[in-house]
Order: sequence, then structure tokens, then C-alpha cells
Amino acid sequence: MSQIIKEINKRSVPDLFLMPNGKVIKTKEEWEKIAKPYWKEVLLREEYGQVPPVINPTYSVETNRIDFAGKAVWQTVSFTFNHNDKSHTIPTQLIYPVGAKNAPFFLYLNFRPDIPDRYLPVEEIIDNGFGIFSVGYHDITRDDEDFTNGLSGLFQTKERKKDEYGKIMCWAYMASRMMDYLQTRDEVDKERVCIAGHSRLGKTALLAAALDERFKFVCSNDSGCSGAALSRGHCVGAETIKDILGMVPYWFCDNYQKYIDRDNELPFDQHCLISLIAPRRVHIGGALEDIWADNDNQFLSCASASKVWGLYDEKGLICPDRLPVEGDIFTDGELCFHLRKGKHFHSRTDWLIYMDAFKKWIRK
Ligand code: GCU
Repeated sequence: MSQIIKEINKRSVPDLFLMPNGKVIKTKEEWEKIAKPYWKEVLLREEYGQVPPVINPTYSVETNRIDFAGKAVWQTVSFTFNHNDKSHTIPTQLIYPVGAKNAPFFLYLNFRPDIPDRYLPVEEIIDNGFGIFSVGYHDITRDDEDFTNGLSGLFQTKERKKDEYGKIMCWAYMASRMMDYLQTRDEVDKERVCIAGHSRLGKTALLAAALDERFKFVCSNDSGCSGAALSRGHCVGAETIKDILGMVPYWFCDNYQKYIDRDNELPFDQHCLISLIAPRRVHIGGALEDIWADNDNQFLSCASASKVWGLYDEKGLICPDRLPVEGDIFTDGELCFHLRKGKHFHSRTDWLIYMDAFKKWIRK
């Protein structure tokens, strides 16, 4: 038996194609009509919470002086949301090569609003022909248990329901509003917008891509537990649902608490999240020393979801039949994976790999 299948079987992850009523999904049409809505509903209800109502912000645009040696235009676009007699403004940063028309873009969810930033090598990305649209995630809603601040505060009801959005959902919601804005700009190739993020924001990027089909590509860096990594059969030293909910329960909806120490009873696993993005392009990045993010389980999650691409006559993960090792870069299929050396970090090395994969995809 294949080594990868053996590893997947050890974890007994739910079969993506088997519905609770016993129906087996066999075609792309059945996947779209039955399985996809089913997995989406389960993930929102049990893990991330429901999507807040869509409200349209007003925008104000201001051009900054710094132009990266004359190569780029940098604008700050402020989004003002008004709802329930409350208002919240979020600054975002739009940077694109001078004269850009229909340029491929990275929409980057960042830990900080800074341009450039230690996770975001802006000039190098511009030099490679991409535009960037980024936001500091605290500006959306703060990373804490207070749901009354920022964007979250606009929707907050008195008592939180069990399936009410967690903070990851709020950050993903903003990514879609940023995507709305990109539709209005001629500089952007709307079919070539890649959403990217690292760690908690890598989890967010996957969720945003799963919910918003306008994202044709997602790069999720070191996202680990409740992101790319399967929860079942986690490696020694890797983060568990109990760990993550012990530290940051508010990233998720309250229903997720039911699965503390009950990973094997989850009615889904993280391969379900990845599968919702098929047949679009997914790229999962890992770092060898990032044990916490569980690289084997990030990889096996991709391998478990891969067959869904087959329903669309696309190739999912193309890789040798073994667990990943340092230096692996698999970008021949629509489901890509790499494992670089080093620690948890959104490094320039990751960016170079993501940009190469992006260019390869554009040439396809
Ligand atoms: C913590 C958390 C991870 C998360 C990471 C981050 O380590 O346990 O789940 O990915 O923070 O976002 O930096």
C-alpha cells in the first residue's frame, strides 16, 4: 500500500465523498451541489462561526510619497463601515508597479500595517511584477476576546450564539471586502488575485479562499492547527485543539469547544477546508523546525483533499509517495506544498517559492 495512504488511514479522517445519509459523491456536479455546501455548513457551524452580514464601506484613497525608487505607486485606501449606528475605519495599503494594468496581485493579511514589513518584502514582490494589497489585522478587529471592538463591534449582539463568528472569520470577512475593492481597479487582474497569510493569518487566508471563489489562489504559510493541518493523529509536540482553545478560544465559534480532547470525534477535519477551494490553486508552506504547526499533518491534509481536484479533471497534489522532507517543493499540480528549513516565519524564501509557483500558474 502507498505510504501516504497508510498514513492517512492511520488518522481515519472523514471521507470527503461520503455524505451522512450514505450517499457517495462521484461527480463534480454532485460535489458542487451536495458535498461542498455540506462541508462548508459543518465547518462554519462547528469551527469558525457564521459569516457576518455583508455591508458596503465607503473608500477614501490617498497616495503616499514613497514610490520604491520610482517603480511603484503606493496608496492608502481607507474603508469606512457604517452599521447599527456604529462606524469603523480600516486603513489598507495598495502598492502596484508603475503603469500596471491587469497585474497579478497578492492580497496579504499581515500582523502589522507596515510597508515594507519583516513578513512582506514589498519591493521584491513589486520587482517580480506583482501588486500587493495588504492590511494589518489588528486594524480589522483586535486579536483579543473583546468582540465589541473594530469590525466585530458593528455586528456584535448581546449574547454570543454558539455558532457566532470568531475573530478568524472577521479577518477573512475583511479579505472579501478588500477583494470587492480590487474589482474596481484597472491595475488588477481580477482572475489572478492570490490571498496569502502566515500562521493565524494563514488559517484566515484558507477560510477566506474557501468562502470567496474570486480568490483563485491561496498561499497559507505555517498555518498549522485549525488551518491546513489535520487535527486527528497529530505529531508529538504539535498543537492540538485543546492547546489552541486554551490560548485563543475567541478565534473560533464556541461550538469548537466541544472537540477539546475529542479530535477523533470531529465531524470534519482540516482537509475539508482545503477541499472547498478546489479546483482553484492552493499552496501550503511549512518550515522544518516548526513542529507546532505539524508539517506531516499539513501535508497529509493536502494529500487527503487532493482527489477533489480530480473531479474537475485537474491534478491536485503531485509528489513522491512519502512524507515530506526539507527542501521539497511540489508545484506541478493545483495543490502545492513546500517544506523549507528553519523556523516558524514568513520568510523571503517562502515568498520566492510562492512567487515562482504564481508565475508558473500564470504561464499555464
Ligand atoms: C500560536 C498559535 C498558532 C498560531 C500562531 C501564530 O503559536 O498556537 O496556532 O498559528 O500563534 O499565529 O503566530
